[in-house]
Order: sequence, then C-alpha cells, then structure tokens
Amino acid sequence: MKAEQEKLHKVIEDMAAKVAKDIPDGSIIGLGSGATVAIFVRKLGRRAAKEGLNFAAIPSSLQIQLVAEQSGLNILSLKMIPKIDITVDSADQIDDDFNVIKGGGGALYRERVLLRAAQKSVILADETKYAQRLCKPIPVETSFFARSFVYGELVKLGGKPTLRLLDKGYPFTTENGNVIFDTDFGVVEKPEMMRSDIVDVSGVIEVGIFVGECDVFYRANRDGSVQTFEV
Ligand code: A5P
Repeated sequence: MKAEQEKLHKVIEDMAAKVAKDIPDGSIIGLGSGATVAIFVRKLGRRAAKEGLNFAAIPSSLQIQLVAEQSGLNILSLKMIPKIDITVDSADQIDDDFNVIKGGGGALYRERVLLRAAQKSVILADETKYAQRLCKPIPVETSFFARSFVYGELVKLGGKPTLRLLDKGYPFTTENGNVIFDTDFGVVEKPEMMRSDIVDVSGVIEVGIFVGECDVFYRANRDGSVQTFEV
C-alpha cells in the first residue's frame, strides 16, 4: 500500500513539474490551496532559482502563501487579481463531465475568485480524485450568524450537513471568518442545478461545486502516465 502511494506521489510530482515547466517567465499566477498545489509551487520555485526566472503569486490561503514564500515566489497585492495569467489549483473530486468539488481545505471562496479571474485555469489531480459522478460531501460556507437557518435549508434540499470541526472539536473557521457545513447529498445527479439551489439560500457565502470554471485538467495515474484534458 505504502509503495503504491509513493509511486502515485512520484507521478504527481512529474505532473506538477510538467505544468511548472511551461509557465512563462514573469507570469502572475493564482494559487489554489492544498498538498497538490504545494508540490507545484515547490517545483516552480526550484525552476525559478535554477533558470533565474521571476514569478509572482496571488495565494488563496495562508497555507499556500507560506509555501510560495519559502519557494521564493513574489507575493503580489490583491489589486493585481484581474491581471492573473494562470491559476493552478487542485480538487477533491472531478466527475466525467469535469464538474468539480473543492473546499476540502476551506479555501473555496478565494479559489473560485482566482480561477474565474485568470486568463487560464488548470486543475492538477491524481487518479483517486476522478469519479464517474460527484458523491463526496459538498462544502458550504456560511456565516456563524446564519448557520442554523442554512442548516435547515440544506436539510430541506435533501442534504445531511455536518459542521466542520477541527481535531479537538473547535469549529473550523475559514480565512474569511466563516464556518463550513460539509453536506452529504449522495450522488449529485445535476451539479449545476444543485449549485444554484444551494447558492440561492440566504446566508450561503460559497458552495464547493465548480462547474465550467477550469480550462485544463491534468490527471496523474498510478501507471506512471499523466493525462491532459482540455475542456
Ligand atoms: C482547498 O480548499 C481545496 O479546494 C483543495 O484544492 C482540495 O482540497 C485539494 O487538496 P489536496 O491537494 O490537498 O488534496
């Protein structure tokens, strides 16, 4: 099992290096959050140091900002968001139509802004994230004030919401100071409709279903291959 995981990790590194290699010098890069994007950022930093290149980043969270700083990337002012050349992100689950669940790290609100603002948006993910249909719990960000109302509305929509907690039982709060309900809807038959039903609930700030917001998907496979899908 461990050997299998290490093998897949090596392919994820190859995928990240492949994407980092093609980023033009001087690019403004939006960064999603999580372990996969961190691997990409380290590859990009190493390339910049080796080839004397300059990359600037707009991070979606403190987690990825720290990695970007350690990797020698320049952190840009948020005023530069409309000028992003490329956003590189990952996902929790991707279905056959390239609909995506995001928000496992709680950075969904900022990630969507960076994906939408970029000229080009790419998703890096290993084969375990790809599924025929979306079926993982959907992260729903709401304020502490609205949480009871939003909870009830999510139940009315057929979901089973669970307030996200940290290991010791404290509520998880996003970097916007909000809470998250990880909401189990079983298999999501119509992601776009589900997204719009949830967004319509007063008090909902962001939903972790992303439809048609990414241009290219990379998939790292255990057999050592990296596939590219332009959508
Ligand atoms: C962060 O909120 C998420 O959207 C991440 O992109 C997602 O959870 C994937 O993270 P990993 O690369 O750590 O699996």
